[in-house]
Amino acid sequence: MSIIIDGTKIAQDIRRSVREETLAFTEKTGVVPGLAVVLAGDDPASKVYVGRKAKACAEAGFLSREYKLPADVGEAELLALISDLNSDRQIHGILVQLPLPKHIPTDKIIAAIDPNKDVDGFHPANVGRLVTGSPLFVPCTPRGIMELIARTGISLSGKDAVVIGRSNIVGKPMALLLLAQNATVTMCHSKTKDLPAVARRADVLIAAIGKPCMITADMVKEGAVVVDVGVNRLESGKLAGDVAFDEVAPKTSAITPVPGGVGPMTIAMLMRNTLDAAKMTT
Ligand code: GUN
Repeated sequence: MSIIIDGTKIAQDIRRSVREETLAFTEKTGVVPGLAVVLAGDDPASKVYVGRKAKACAEAGFLSREYKLPADVGEAELLALISDLNSDRQIHGILVQLPLPKHIPTDKIIAAIDPNKDVDGFHPANVGRLVTGSPLFVPCTPRGIMELIARTGISLSGKDAVVIGRSNIVGKPMALLLLAQNATVTMCHSKTKDLPAVARRADVLIAAIGKPCMITADMVKEGAVVVDVGVNRLESGKLAGDVAFDEVAPKTSAITPVPGGVGPMTIAMLMRNTLDAAKMTT
């Protein structure tokens, strides 16, 4: 029997406990956790995500500020805003929505964020801390996936984990988190030889590719845990994951659906990271 992992429900539980902790924290200290979200340009998907983040902040009892900048914003202007937010005592977390417009050097912008306010966990100092095993802020999507796996009750120790996709946002931090839980981790990408053969070895398969329904039943071992990070908008307007859910699900011991799997966890973990940031400075 396959468990369909209910990310919507788990994310709701986490957001409820963040809200309760926030109320208690604010009552005790007088400090309201503050998140600044910076959006440059008018990518429609980014706009939707940023709107959801503001709503989640309000629900959690946080202060939230949105900075909407035009697509042709200059690098200096963006750096000046980040510098202001770094020294703003009301703001504990800074999130710069990615992707940034092409003319902006993303690495330079991320490196300008105070690592103690880097609730995305993208700053090189936070990446380094994750690599060396003393994480401060862990990127929200992989952190959410670890929570989903933990709640299945399945242990990762000694398991073969295969991560498909090597982005800085998901694939790379995901592999490090699985490794920290003693999984044997293989990272796959567009140049991997015989991807189906590698995927078939996985006890835990993480698909973060960005191609609809690419993971088919023949690529999945019987009893595997399958996590689908894909959010692909089809021409029909429907959302599809990276996994061909209907044919893959019966082979798995647990699987995340799209929508309603990994997606809702990203914001839940952002709320947790922001509360952690506020607690760190108080
Ligand atoms: N774009 C897609 N996912 C993310 C995320 O987790 N954080 C930021 N800042 N941008 C993203």
